[in-house]
Amino acid sequence: MKVLVNDVLVERSEVKVDIEDRGYQFGDGVYEVIRVYDGTPFAMEEHLERFYRSAKEIEIELSLTMEELKGKLEELFAAGPFHDGGIYVQLSRGVAPRKHQYEEGIKPQLIAYPVPSKRPEKEQQEGVSAITADDLRWLRCDIKSLNLLYNIMIKQRAYTSGAFEGILIRDGYVTEGTSSNIFMIKDRTIYSHPASNLILNGITRMKLAALFAENGWTFKEQAFTKEELLQADEVFMSSTTAEVVPIIRIDQQPVGDGTPGELTKAVLQAFLQSLKEERVPSV
Ligand SMILES: Cc1ncc(COP(=O)(O)O)c(C=O)c1O
Repeated sequence: MKVLVNDVLVERSEVKVDIEDRGYQFGDGVYEVIRVYDGTPFAMEEHLERFYRSAKEIEIELSLTMEELKGKLEELFAAGPFHDGGIYVQLSRGVAPRKHQYEEGIKPQLIAYPVPSKRPEKEQQEGVSAITADDLRWLRCDIKSLNLLYNIMIKQRAYTSGAFEGILIRDGYVTEGTSSNIFMIKDRTIYSHPASNLILNGITRMKLAALFAENGWTFKEQAFTKEELLQADEVFMSSTTAEVVPIIRIDQQPVGDGTPGELTKAVLQAFLQSLKEERVPSV
């Protein structure tokens, strides 16, 4: 398998990580996961824009322009074979003697490689369960930072309790999932936390917002409480890898009648249809 390291493609077995890479030691860096369907990237520009924004927010400057990086990623796809899954792209601040502060002139380290994954079709059809947990993360969740410690703790708690996702609650309000955005539906209005510093504004979330408008579905970017979540008619999550997945149980209680709701199913269909329109043949 080929890996993009800065601006060259190398075999995975040849890639070495320096013990003083700040990404490795401090999680000092940012990342993206870009969906690839049948060898073709989906929403690559949106992901790259978010990647460059995240890097800028923590003051890391890429040596490649966005166009150049796009070209390098295309070389990575061409080096295939690559079918379904994602491309993981990571940028660390670089290698420097271990101390918290850093000097000017460190060379950022970029890597990108394919991570195969299957579309969660069973979960999309049948729905999944979720747990809730306090959102104890930092206040810059809009940056796609390598620091995922708290997200991991809650995802693992969900996993070991047999749930698919952990829904995070800050000051009584639902923010997002550990690796997804959360939507609830009440009286046919779709709600999601506003795109602020408290959530990652998902690329899937943005695509869905456009589909809601196209389909005339009422969408409010408005925070809702844990109680409202538990009283919702329907709940679903969205992400690059999960696309749209109905949540049918939260903290052991059924959402609505405990089956995927009609509007959620329509949202999923609209999303899959939009992929087809972008010529994703396998969907
Ligand atoms: C914390 C968090 N929120 C939301 C999302 C969904 O974002 P996207 O739709 O761009 O994958 C992710 C995806 O990994 C995430 O990690």
